Amino acid sequence: QVKQATNQIVMNCADIDIITASYAPEGDEEVHATGFNYQNEDEKVTLSFPSTLQKGTGTLKIDFVGELNDKMKGFYRSKYTTPTGDTRYAAVTQFEATDARRAFPCWDEPAIKATFDISLVVPKDRVALSNMNVVDRKPYPDDENLVEVKFARTPTMSTYLVAFVVGEYDFVEARSLDGVLVRVYTPVGKAEQGKFALEVAAKTLPFYKDYFNVPYPLPKIDLIAIADFAAGAMENWGLVTYRETALLIDPKNSCSSSRQWVALVVGHELAHQWFGNLVTMEWWTHLWLNEGFASWIEYLCVDHCFPEYDIWTQFVSADYTRAQELDALDNSHPIEVSVGHPSEVDEIFDAISYSKGASVIRMLHDYIGDEDFRKGMNLYLTKFQQKNAATEDLWESLEKASGKPIAAVMNTWTKQMGFPLIYVEAEQQEDDKVLKLIQKKFCASGPYTGEDFPMWMVPISICTSDDPTCAKMQILMDKPELTLVLKDIRPDQWVKLNLGTVGFYRTQYSPDMLESLIPAIKDLSLPPVDRLGLQNDLFSLARAGIISTVEVLKVMEAFVNEPNYTVWSDLSCNLGILSTLLSHTDFYEEIQVFVKDVFSPIGERLGWDPKPGEGHLDALLRGLVLGKLGKAGHKATLEEARRRFKDHVEGKHILSADLRSPVYVTILKHGDSTTLDTMLKLHKQADMQEEKNRIERVLGAISQPELIQKVLTFALSEEVRPQDTVSVIGGVAGGSKQGRKAAWKFVRDNWEELYNRYQGGFLISRLIKLTVDGFANDKMAAEVKAFFESHPAPSAERTVQQCCENILLNAAWLKRDAENIHQYFLQRKAPPAMV
Ligand code: BES
Ligand code: ZN
Repeated sequence: QVKQATNQIVMNCADIDIITASYAPEGDEEVHATGFNYQNEDEKVTLSFPSTLQKGTGTLKIDFVGELNDKMKGFYRSKYTTPTGDTRYAAVTQFEATDARRAFPCWDEPAIKATFDISLVVPKDRVALSNMNVVDRKPYPDDENLVEVKFARTPTMSTYLVAFVVGEYDFVEARSLDGVLVRVYTPVGKAEQGKFALEVAAKTLPFYKDYFNVPYPLPKIDLIAIADFAAGAMENWGLVTYRETALLIDPKNSCSSSRQWVALVVGHELAHQWFGNLVTMEWWTHLWLNEGFASWIEYLCVDHCFPEYDIWTQFVSADYTRAQELDALDNSHPIEVSVGHPSEVDEIFDAISYSKGASVIRMLHDYIGDEDFRKGMNLYLTKFQQKNAATEDLWESLEKASGKPIAAVMNTWTKQMGFPLIYVEAEQQEDDKVLKLIQKKFCASGPYTGEDFPMWMVPISICTSDDPTCAKMQILMDKPELTLVLKDIRPDQWVKLNLGTVGFYRTQYSPDMLESLIPAIKDLSLPPVDRLGLQNDLFSLARAGIISTVEVLKVMEAFVNEPNYTVWSDLSCNLGILSTLLSHTDFYEEIQVFVKDVFSPIGERLGWDPKPGEGHLDALLRGLVLGKLGKAGHKATLEEARRRFKDHVEGKHILSADLRSPVYVTILKHGDSTTLDTMLKLHKQADMQEEKNRIERVLGAISQPELIQKVLTFALSEEVRPQDTVSVIGGVAGGSKQGRKAAWKFVRDNWEELYNRYQGGFLISRLIKLTVDGFANDKMAAEVKAFFESHPAPSAERTVQQCCENILLNAAWLKRDAENIHQYFLQRKAPPAMV
């Protein structure tokens, strides 16, 4: 529609050559454009017409050519090997955020919605898919080897959700309870591996239909595994694309964590079919609505499909704590952030949009209650369907449904960066406890000293040892300080804030309150998610210098009786951070001793082989603990890993999928060039991408300098898919002190190639973070900063600042606490003093 008479049309266009363009006003003759002026920087083209186009509707026709690129964006080619070993290419799309314009000229903004009628002319022996179902398929007149496939018209939708795929695939299919045809497309010969995702998808669609009370609007949905794929998965409407490892499960060769990952990713992308596709964010500033929401509800969906995963506890360790770690930095950003250029859009696909977004929605859901929350979601989705919405629109719907001040509360969480630290102390007054709460911004560098006093509206819940799972009091803290009276609490009862670790804040207890909580860790009377939260808060307080790291090490030792996988996983992660830090000292071995001491009791309880009646979480826990012990050089574990690996390689006894990562990492960490060669051979032989990735991620555990170089060279070789290079280099950087230096040098030496490979994008940010985050002196911070000043990576600018900040924080931490930690380790080893 021409809204105002003009002789120019400006649209988005990148890496495309326009051959002809014409405009035909309705019922009138067409006018050919005479000039195509490309503004490459802005990814736009201006079509100039010899006469004025008058107000009214008409048809714009454009003939153009583009290239199937190798950059995993726009319309690109993805390499795969056929069962007989031939190399072939599939043609696939990835348009989010701003790359539809690389496939066809268009108005490439989420709020400019249109219907799409797509036809593809393809070789007749290839599968051709798009968002909608096929309505016609006929021979192509000019070439008998081609067919023209026509797809049904799409609903009104944004360009970033358009998709098409041409290639060779097999599939499995099912009809979901709500009547949608679901197919999972796999590489040829691997249809079986699509069954797990198919089951999840067929359960998930009716779950969301019921949850939102809005049906899935298309007649079909395809889920397809793409060999070369930058993200984990992409929610294109009706044609969801996935990395192979996020979709394919082999009953024998896939480990439990892969199963869980596939379930989460399927749950995530299918949620977008409503939240994102049916109702789309107005502009990328509201990207978090899409991603934060999907990253929350994927857990709800997996909890529904697999209650035995105890997935909500895992949420806290995977998303909540990760978000708090990033959001405590001065270089964090608010959830809602203004963005313009595509590189700024790429930049916000980060832990703030995803994990903080998901965490504040979880807190909000808890504050509102499930029933009203669902009502509000339904209001929102029906009011804005096939349209766009902004953050405040969601608040309005939820406010209507709940009668609570949602916008006022939530604006404090989405419009300002950071989150509060709540300091609490208690005083016994006869039969009551009087609590005093103070909120202050939590900073990774220590107590907040800024001039302004950012405040949050914080839903606070409080429980006591009488019933650790039930809130004794719930209150909205809307000022800097609060005094509360808890009635009828005996002096010996402990008090804990933030039950369920739902509120997005950290808690600092007065010393005596904290002391009273420690026995509740030991005797497990505190629920797992609260044990986890408490430990994680203490660890971050230590990192910020608010308490001493030695205090946290002592608390960690209170976890001797811990049975819970997720609690261990979080603790293990923190010990990993500490271990990286102490790799900069000369008492690195001492922390390995500590790790062995902490993990060996649970290691002994678990043993190597699954016991009858064990489930998903036991498998995850065993893998975690054995891997940790093996890496730390626990003798018995190392010996058994070597024995089992030998049997595995000789084909005598194949390692179960869940034991492979821990065994691989153990034998590599303590291995030599033969070990590395064997692993590389296993990599080559592996038929499943999951197994290849499993090996790629642990190669960096090798510690000899020349072998580290070999792994780095391998990372950029043809053997590793382009999207996986990042985790190989990251594995080297995280594997050892020498690895860290070598990986950073390698990234600098190969910067051009790496940058080109990912053309900006979020993989480059991930690479940078994995490579430099572990350094711990001021000089390195300066070196990193200087390098990226002379080698700019616009989409990773904020990541670079965050990394430099982290390096300085590490340096300060080391200076402050290393000596005390060392003393503590020595004293632990010393025989108890005689009295
Ligand atoms: N919309 C994203 C895919 C995406 C990511 C496009 C980055 C462009 C840039 C998709 O819904 C997504 O979030 N995928 C996640 C997996 C998910 C389970 C967290 C991913 O790719 O990591
Ligand atoms: Zn998403």
